[in-house]
Amino acid sequence: MKALKGRDFISIADFTTEELEYILKTSALMKSRFYSGERVIPVLQGRTLLLIFQKPSTRTRISFEVAMRQLGGEAISLTWKEMQLGRGETIADTARVISRYVDAVAARVFSHEDLVELARHASIPVINALSNKEHPCQAVGDMLTIWEKKGRYSGLTISFVGDGGDNVLHSLLLIAVKLGNNVRVGTAKGYDPDPAIWKIAEEEAEKKNVTVEIVRSPEEAVRGVDVVYTDVWVSMGQESEAEKRIKDLTPFRVTGELMKLAKEDAIFMHCLPAKRGYEVTDEVMDGPHSVVWDQAENRLHTQKAILALLL
Ligand code: CP
Ligand code: NVA
Repeated sequence: MKALKGRDFISIADFTTEELEYILKTSALMKSRFYSGERVIPVLQGRTLLLIFQKPSTRTRISFEVAMRQLGGEAISLTWKEMQLGRGETIADTARVISRYVDAVAARVFSHEDLVELARHASIPVINALSNKEHPCQAVGDMLTIWEKKGRYSGLTISFVGDGGDNVLHSLLLIAVKLGNNVRVGTAKGYDPDPAIWKIAEEEAEKKNVTVEIVRSPEEAVRGVDVVYTDVWVSMGQESEAEKRIKDLTPFRVTGELMKLAKEDAIFMHCLPAKRGYEVTDEVMDGPHSVVWDQAENRLHTQKAILALLL
């Protein structure tokens, strides 16, 4: 296995199955040590993480900041606008400067290409804290949750119902397939996953002897599955298309009725924030299948693992 130290964490596609399993196992260890009373595991003493946000965040920002504290290090959070980036300083120049101050940078950006540009010019690890294309930190947390709830992280069928072009789905799709799970996407025409990501998923699926499929019926998407996942229909940056997206995706709402078609012990997942009443009903969010709060918590433990391994 290639060492993880010094690497960027931008796309799940950049990591092998073995590396992803190692990150997951380290995450589980971080969590169990935390619950055994070791609230601080000081492996990053004297180290600083910079967080840059071009869009809002609750979970990502707080869990990264707390993660650094629990590793004995520190975090600085800034918005794009309050940095000189907002006045036109280039990403390349910013990357060169911050590399002299901090030990890693996590950025949430509109354009995935900006992250790639940041990584090209930074000499420190660059972590994707969500882009228009992927949300890899979310995907690792989600696989830890699936492992905890299902007792395994492979051999399952995971269904994503809603916006097939969703950033969270892209990372989930890649990690799920790399770890040997079937993935079924239920979405409307015109909302299919990014073709480049879908191609990687198909190639991986063949290697792992699992399937990836896109279906147009929400019922077909969830029938007999172990996991039902959804995310908002209007992601950050897509507000101008809201009306059309809501209209097109309304048939893909996760309701109590729809959940009945999944396995009896199926879990319901959502990366949050949820738009209750749109992609998911209160009944499902607050119902017995929902694991969304554990899912949110696991961002903390998995990010401690990612930070400790990259740094
Ligand atoms: N799931 C997630 O990334 O949430 P935030 O947008 O609150 O960070
Ligand atoms: N798809 C959502 C995820 C938020 C965590 C968005 O990009 O807004």
